Amino acid sequence: MQEVIIHDKTFRVLIEADKIQQRVKEIGTQINSEYKGKCVLFLGVMNGAFLFAADLFKSIDLECEISFIRVSSYSGTESTGAMKNVLGLNSNIEGRDVIIIEDIVDTGDTMKYLMHELNSKNPASLKLATMVFKPAALKHPLKPDYVGFEVPPDFLVGYGLDYDQLGRNLNDIYILKT
Ligand code: IMP
Ligand code: MG
Repeated sequence: MQEVIIHDKTFRVLIEADKIQQRVKEIGTQINSEYKGKCVLFLGVMNGAFLFAADLFKSIDLECEISFIRVSSYSGTESTGAMKNVLGLNSNIEGRDVIIIEDIVDTGDTMKYLMHELNSKNPASLKLATMVFKPAALKHPLKPDYVGFEVPPDFLVGYGLDYDQLGRNLNDIYILKT
């Protein structure tokens, strides 16, 4: 399927499923060697990262745990704009080697906030794995440690990413057709 219509928009394939699977395995191999002898705590960010988190987790051969969190945003009444909130962080991350698993880093607002929140809980180490990264959209000095693919700053769907909740089940990653 090279094109797909979701709601009112047409998308075309950008990254095929087999390429995604191959890249996820490569990241898994890299993490396995870099964290040898350690017990990693993976924190998957719901909803978008659930497929990437599951596939990456299956490629890990270390002793490891996984837990899922959500970063909610709500509009503040202050002129400071959107406020954020971390939900579901039940694990004590102090002294732990933590790897965040995210679907996409776009402006970087969400990850800047999340990494700051998690760092304040004193993990032994904190790294970020993102399936896709839009460097041209980034607003903060943030460098993901593991990147599946660098992509243009256009809207994507598939492999967990949604357009108004649809499209998460697509096995390929699609880009908005212009
Ligand atoms: P941020 O701008 O880096 O804070 O991205 C925030 C969130 O917006 C991501 O975690 C995604 O859930 C969503 N997002 C950003 N870009 C896209 C996209 O191209 N497709 C679908 N969701 C996106
Ligand atoms: Mg997300």
